[in-house]
Amino acid sequence: MEVGIDTMKAIVLRKNGGPGVLNLEEVRKPRPGRGEVGVSVRFAGVNYAEILSRKGIYGWAPEKPYIPGMECSGVIEETGEGVDESRAGEPVMVGAKFGSYAEYMVVPEANAVPLIDGFSFEEAASFLVNYMTAWVALFRMARAGRGEKVLVTAAAGGVGTAAVQLAARAGCEVYGLAGSGEKLELIESLGAVSAFNYRDPDCFKNLVAAAGGIDVVIEMVGGNTFRRCMDSLNPFGRVVVTGFASLDLNKWNPFSWLRTWRDIPRADVGQLAEKSVSVMSSHLGYLLDREPDMMAQLYGELKEFVTAHGVRPVVNRIFGLGDAGRAHEYIESRKSSGKVLLKIG
Ligand SMILES: NC(=O)c1ccc[n+]([C@@H]2O[C@H](COP(=O)([O-])OP(=O)(O)OC[C@H]3O[C@@H](n4cnc5c(N)ncnc54)[C@H](OP(=O)(O)O)[C@@H]3O)[C@@H](O)[C@H]2O)c1
Repeated sequence: MEVGIDTMKAIVLRKNGGPGVLNLEEVRKPRPGRGEVGVSVRFAGVNYAEILSRKGIYGWAPEKPYIPGMECSGVIEETGEGVDESRAGEPVMVGAKFGSYAEYMVVPEANAVPLIDGFSFEEAASFLVNYMTAWVALFRMARAGRGEKVLVTAAAGGVGTAAVQLAARAGCEVYGLAGSGEKLELIESLGAVSAFNYRDPDCFKNLVAAAGGIDVVIEMVGGNTFRRCMDSLNPFGRVVVTGFASLDLNKWNPFSWLRTWRDIPRADVGQLAEKSVSVMSSHLGYLLDREPDMMAQLYGELKEFVTAHGVRPVVNRIFGLGDAGRAHEYIESRKSSGKVLLKIG
C-alpha cells in the first residue's frame, strides 16, 4: 500500500500463533461514519484476552484479519455525522472489541469517554478493561460489603491490582495471591492486609490461618487455585470467576485438551449446597454487547468511586507499537504487574 495521509501503522493479526504473528503493517486509515468518532491513539492497553485471541482460543474475538487491542487513550481527531463536532480535540479513553494496536481507531461515540480528572494518558489507557471488570465482579455480582474478606487471585496483574484497590477502598479486608515476592509487596502496598505466594505449598494454609475464611473471591487463575479458593470459603461465600490464566489450551495438542477440561473452573450444585456458597462468572465483552445501558450506568458509579477515593492505575511497562509481540511475551512470562501499554502517538 502506498504510504500517505490516508494510511496508518497498525498491528494486524492475520493468523493465530505465537507473539511473532503480531506484525506491524501500513494499512488504510478508517474514517468515522454516522455516530462514530475517529481517535488518534496515544497509548493502547495490553490485555490477557488479546494473548488468548492471538492464540485463537478466545470466544469474544472478531474474524481475522483484524487489528487487536481492546482499549486506548487518545484524542478525538474527527467526528462522524450526527456527532457533536465540538468533541474534536477531546482527550478520551476508549473501550472496544478490537482495533487499538494502531495509530488511529474508529468507534461509536459512546465508546469514547472523557479522561478521568487528573489521569495521564498512560493511566487512562490502563483503566477501562481492568477497573470495569473488577467493579462488575466485586460489587455487581459478589455484592462485596464493608468488612467482608475478599481474596483476589493473580492480584498483582491488571485486573488484580484494580480489584485490590477497589475492594480495599470500599472497606473490605483484602487478601491477594501472586507468584513472586515483589508482587506480594505491590499487592500489600495497594491496600491488601496480606498477600501470599501460590508457588509456596503452604500458601492456602497460611491464607486461612491469617484470614480465617473468605467471603468473596475474584478468581482469575483456574485449576488447583480455583479448587483451593472454594475450600477457603466461609458460609454464603461467593466466587466470581473472571478468568483462568493458568489454562494452556493448544488446539493441536490433545493432552492440553485434557488438562484444560480438568482445570477449567466448574462447580457441583450439590457441593455448593453443603456449604451454602455460590460460583458466578462475568465477561465484560458480552455485557457491553448485550447491556450497553447497564454498563454505562456501572461506569458512572465506578468513575464516581475512583474520583472520590483517588484511585490511580498501576502502570508497569511501556513498549513501542512495533514491539507488541514483546509486550505479549512479557505478560505471558508472568513477570508483569499492573498494566502493560503500547506507546503509539
Ligand atoms: N471476564 C472478563 O470480562 C475479563 C476482563 C479482563 C480480564 N479477564 C481475565 O482476567 C485475567 C487477568 O487479566 P489481565 O489482563 O489483568 O492479565 P494479568 O493478570 O496482568 O496477567 C496474567 C497473570 O495471570 C497469572 N497467572 C497465573 N497462572 C498463570 C499461568 N499459568 N500462565 C500465565 N499467567 C498466569 C500471572 O500472575 P502470577 O504469576 O502472579 O500468578 C500473570 O501475571 C485473565 O485470565 C483474563 O483473561 C477477564
